[in-house]
Amino acid sequence: MAAKKLLLLPGDGIGPEAMAEVRKIIAYMNAELESDFSLEEGLVGGCAYDAHGKAISEADMAKALAADAVLFGAVGGPKWDTVPYDVRPEAGLLRLRKDMELFANLRPAICYPALADSSSLKKEIVEGLDILIVRELTGGVYFGEPKEIRDLGNGQKRGIDTQVYDTYEIERISGVAFELARTRANKVTSMEKRNVMMSGVLWNEVVTATHKAKYSDVKLEHMLADAGGMQLVRWPKQFDVIVTDNLFGDMLSDIAAMLTGSLGMLPSASLGAPDAKTGKRKALYEPVHGSAPDIAGTGAANPIAMIASFAMCLRYSFNMVAEADRLEAAIAGVLDDGLRTGDIMSEGKTKIGTVEMGDAILAKFRALAM
Ligand code: NAD
Ligand code: IPM
Ligand code: MN
Repeated sequence: MAAKKLLLLPGDGIGPEAMAEVRKIIAYMNAELESDFSLEEGLVGGCAYDAHGKAISEADMAKALAADAVLFGAVGGPKWDTVPYDVRPEAGLLRLRKDMELFANLRPAICYPALADSSSLKKEIVEGLDILIVRELTGGVYFGEPKEIRDLGNGQKRGIDTQVYDTYEIERISGVAFELARTRANKVTSMEKRNVMMSGVLWNEVVTATHKAKYSDVKLEHMLADAGGMQLVRWPKQFDVIVTDNLFGDMLSDIAAMLTGSLGMLPSASLGAPDAKTGKRKALYEPVHGSAPDIAGTGAANPIAMIASFAMCLRYSFNMVAEADRLEAAIAGVLDDGLRTGDIMSEGKTKIGTVEMGDAILAKFRALAM
């Protein structure tokens, strides 16, 4: 069997701390489950900027394109707040998404039973929650041109971002959402702002047409994205799959994270289109959270989002469904045992750090394999 080529890009802040816990799981899988992962490592974000003045080097970009899957930690931090926009830490992540053509970002928000008390919302609102946000990731206002600060010559400047969507981009992301809905509760809610945005009018039209042409068995509803944010905190269990654009998806997924208890809980998979010949997709797995500068270096970060992102990698890139299920069950089991990092801590539970949480999940994962 050819080795499964993984590129690890731990990044900045808590990224490397969380990635270290995944590395332990991979080492165990190679040693005892004959999983045959081969690991490479690279720099992305502020650490890459410090090393070579760019948020990702060409050599690491080439490694990412050649890998079977990329595991990404987090980037950014106050140290790089004043560096030019095109070499900022975040630019490394945006380049990876764009050059790898990772148009589909899957952000599942699951409220583990043991954490129903940790949300800022009432238990009955989040208990049993299982929704999936499908965020368009390579288009919209993140990448539209022009994108610049223009000097107007009269002492004024103009900051310009451009929201652009073409038919094919909306078709392919809604196709992903409909396909995934069929494997779940069979419902898609599309969110845009067709009341004020032309891209929203087109989004709505194309999602409706795609649904009619190929997916009329799936229940489809449309919601204005601002109302969608409100509904997410009012009664999130009304949703199954939410499909939305790049910027709305960014914001709505941070909201969804808090339904599950913490940003430290939310994994994601960023996927490209399947290759016409091999069926393989380019893929990068990234927690939804950032580099958490406020807790970086203290050993307090929750590694669950990163570990659950690796579980998504096992599922989507390597079809290792049993192992993915087992790793997710290990996470749930450790939470059932009452172990908590600070971000999800509640009364009567046992507070532990990043390393202890990683160790506990690995021990559970191992035990479930016996
Ligand atoms: P953040 O996600 O880093 O942190 C927000 C809050 O959530 C902080 O209080 C943090 O301590 C907490 N938090 C986040 N992840 C946690 C975890 N795993 N365990 C425990 N607590 C956790 O967002 P921010 O503070 O707005 O951004 C900090 C930097 O990260 C910025 O430079 C931003 O651009 C960057 N960022 C990067 C990514 C990414 O790399 N994918 C995502 C979001 C933000
Ligand atoms: C995310 C992050 C990124 C985004 C940043 C760091 C570029 O917030 O993945 O949610 O805005 O997409
Ligand atoms: Mn975000």
